[in-house]
Amino acid sequence: MLQWSSDDGYETASSYDCSIESLKSSINQYILENGRRYHTYFGSNRNLMPTDEMEQDRLDMHHEIFLGVLHGALHMAPLKPEKIERIMDVGTGTGIWAIDMADRFPHAEVMGIDLSPIQPTWVPPNCHFEVDDAEQDWTYDADYFDYIHVRNVALNITKWPHLLAETYRCTKPGGYVELAEVSGDIIADDDTVPPGHPLKLSWDYLSKAMELTGHDPIYSNTLAERLTEAGFVDVKSFRVKQPIGGWPQDSKLKVIGEMMLLNIQLGLEAYCLAAFTRVLGMATGDASALLKEASVRACDRGMHAYNYFYIAYGRKQKDGEFSDEDDDEDSDEDYGSDESAEYDDASESTEKPKRTGDMEE
Ligand SMILES: C[S@@+](CC[C@H](N)C(=O)[O-])C[C@H]1O[C@@H](n2cnc3c(N)ncnc32)[C@H](O)[C@@H]1O
Repeated sequence: MLQWSSDDGYETASSYDCSIESLKSSINQYILENGRRYHTYFGSNRNLMPTDEMEQDRLDMHHEIFLGVLHGALHMAPLKPEKIERIMDVGTGTGIWAIDMADRFPHAEVMGIDLSPIQPTWVPPNCHFEVDDAEQDWTYDADYFDYIHVRNVALNITKWPHLLAETYRCTKPGGYVELAEVSGDIIADDDTVPPGHPLKLSWDYLSKAMELTGHDPIYSNTLAERLTEAGFVDVKSFRVKQPIGGWPQDSKLKVIGEMMLLNIQLGLEAYCLAAFTRVLGMATGDASALLKEASVRACDRGMHAYNYFYIAYGRKQKDGEFSDEDDDEDSDEDYGSDESAEYDDASESTEKPKRTGDMEE
């Protein structure tokens, strides 16, 4: 909510103080609840996740995990660096992905938008951030961006068709939109995460809260379906496992698993506390007790848990284009995704990882 203030303490119907300073201070509106800080400029229930320093550190760590499971790739869409002029990151968070992209695409302009102004000011010259609500009508021209990236915002977005219609409108013909989301469903291929396990229980409660607030859960085909419904073509989808805990034998995955364990422990409170108390009406003590137990049990060395990170991208067709073959120039072999990596095809999900050995104890 925008609150206008006047410097001299007087306010008349004809004299609002429209200074940038007063706008800045109203953008920085927060509430403190259960020891966490939530941003409220767009309304107190728009984002059930805190935006405080602890959450910002967690988001930056999760970015490292994403890079780890994708072998350093920042995107899976086959982008040609020399052709990319404008990149958009929707729900940019701390802006860490946008900053990395600006470094890797020095000739492109990278913009990140977020409800919260939590991005740093020291950024590459070709990167900038704006406070904006991606679920409103976009103010950008049609056919403006070469690539739009939307990562890890599923717990915040309720108007996917509208958001994707706007990304479609604002993507250049031939350009790409990429969606990437984590499923919080905790899985083990053995019986080390049985039903009723506090980690699973926390996820069940969170799913319920999300359902009640109009958020769609992430299943294997959700992202690809959203892109296809929005009109994108050549949609491809993948999924990779994020191990939770240092149980994998592979040394790189072991480190990723240890980071994921910390991420889950910090994320449990960030994702669940407001959802459990505000949406499900749980007492703060009960919510904290369950989350604490889940956090303690997550450290169990005998547990072989993981969850999935889903990615899908699609291309906006060029005018007069009839088939994939017409656009060979822009086809997959070009750039971007690490060709040595093998990913599960999310549209043909099996519970087994393709990278055999990765996830074995
Ligand atoms: C879990 S964070 C992910 C941040 C970043 N995408 C990443 O992967 O590191 C979700 C971010 O989306 C932002 N967000 C949620 N709804 C949004 C909206 N309607 N418009 C813009 N940003 C939004 C939140 O403020 C938060 O910073």
